Amino acid sequence: MMKGHKPRILLTRRYPARVEAALAELFETVENPEDRRLSADEIIAQAVGCDGLLVCPTERMTAQVINALPESVRIIATFSVGYDHIDLEAARTRGIVVTHTPEVLTDATADVAMLLLLGAARGAYWGERMVREGRWGAWAPTHPLGIDVSGRRLGIIGMGHIGRALAKRARAFDMDIHYHNRRRLPPELEGDAIWHETLEEMLPLCDFLSLNCASTPETRGILNAETIALLPKGAVVINTARGDLVDDDALIAALQSGHVAAAGLDVFNNEPDIDPRYRELENVFLLPHLGSATPRTREAMGFRALDNLRAFFEGREPPDRLV
Ligand code: DGY
Repeated sequence: MMKGHKPRILLTRRYPARVEAALAELFETVENPEDRRLSADEIIAQAVGCDGLLVCPTERMTAQVINALPESVRIIATFSVGYDHIDLEAARTRGIVVTHTPEVLTDATADVAMLLLLGAARGAYWGERMVREGRWGAWAPTHPLGIDVSGRRLGIIGMGHIGRALAKRARAFDMDIHYHNRRRLPPELEGDAIWHETLEEMLPLCDFLSLNCASTPETRGILNAETIALLPKGAVVINTARGDLVDDDALIAALQSGHVAAAGLDVFNNEPDIDPRYRELENVFLLPHLGSATPRTREAMGFRALDNLRAFFEGREPPDRLV
């Protein structure tokens, strides 16, 4: 397939073994055997002599980093569907192609969204802790109690693949689906979900609210004091998308006051150094960015990234090209 020398690819992290092996067949790979998070300077230094980079959301590919990459780098493939860690404009200006891994992590991430929804609603976190810590008193008719899910309304911000896969799961729990998206979905994708053109219209209806949109300049901080105030008292908030969609001060204040009864969060601002106040709250169910964390999904993400790299170096259009 690729004639002449094998393109040299910097792998900024460890990737699933089968993916690394397949990459090594096609490319000369520069690996990170200790799986250390590389600093910006280390990425730039290790990229010397490389034709491409395979990165993760842990690498902040800012304009500064992209501008400092050696001329030889022509493609950045990210092992993620999200690409908010890459300055696409800087890449475009430098003529560097950027690709991502859509679709392959839809089901795994929607499963975690449903897990968070149920876990937050039914207090899986405090229940689990009571059992583990030996604080489980006698069964009682009046306490401790959670929140019913069936028959309730779920509002989804961002009805892409993952939003729709969550809707499918929530329908099986007899939830009514509402959504806010830039564009209304065609009938075959929308099903019985109700589209709301504005958040102002949708939020007051949301017993549950799930964030499933990409992090962009338009959506950053979309859940803030103003939008939270529009939710009915006692709403439950779920986030499997990106931490920066949430204004932590506003969400934490709402969790403390009970305006938001519970939250299920898989993603955070400044991961893994999250706002420590979340750890103190009894009404949050916290996971460490596990959305895509199954072997099958992580392999599929790796092979999707590999397909993009291969297409690029074979002179074809990478299937998941962003710029
Ligand atoms: C992604 O792909 O963007 C996820 O956040 C990683 O699971």
